[in-house]
Amino acid sequence: MDQTEVVKPETLDDLIKTLHKIFESDCINVEEVQDIMESYESKPQEWMKYAKFDQYRYTRNLVDEGNGKFNLMILCWGEGHGSSIHDHTNSHCFMKLLQGQLKETLFKWPDSKSHGEMIQRSQRILQENKVAYINDSIGLHRVENVSHTECAVSLHLYSPPFQTCQTFDQRTGHKNAVKMTFWSKFGERTSFETTVSQENN
Ligand code: SIN
Repeated sequence: MDQTEVVKPETLDDLIKTLHKIFESDCINVEEVQDIMESYESKPQEWMKYAKFDQYRYTRNLVDEGNGKFNLMILCWGEGHGSSIHDHTNSHCFMKLLQGQLKETLFKWPDSKSHGEMIQRSQRILQENKVAYINDSIGLHRVENVSHTECAVSLHLYSPPFQTCQTFDQRTGHKNAVKMTFWSKFGERTSFETTVSQENN
């Protein structure tokens, strides 16, 4: 598949402009998106205004709505914060480390007939500036900041955007539909009513 001629984005704004261009097409080249996100070198002063932490759970902070084609968000992970095992609602998920490290654990989809412990397929530590990719055909994952001393910040692109996903109980494989909410949008705190239903962590 042809790749659009892309140059290394020097700033987060450049990266967002390039992503808008790439997602004008309905046919997405996963490697191209991964490469362009990886080639942006994280500079905290460019994303600091979106990086809002909560004492108890990781936060989701909307950065850009990608002309309806994708949602770009910054997730802030305090020490020990993690997500539930979840799917990606038939969307692409790209995840770039802006600061710190995150552990990603990949699981198999639970068998609808068995009700035991979910099967773990792999585990890896994602390093700063690297980009991970997952979709539902690859499996399910859980993301965690396992550090007791350092926070972590990641940049996520979901395409098409989605507002609900399924979370899974590791012990039984039982699933639940959850609504995903934003702690802030475009640098501004969202109201209490819109954040209260977040349950993926
Ligand atoms: C994750 O991949 O663990 C983050 C899920 C989310 O978007 O809240």
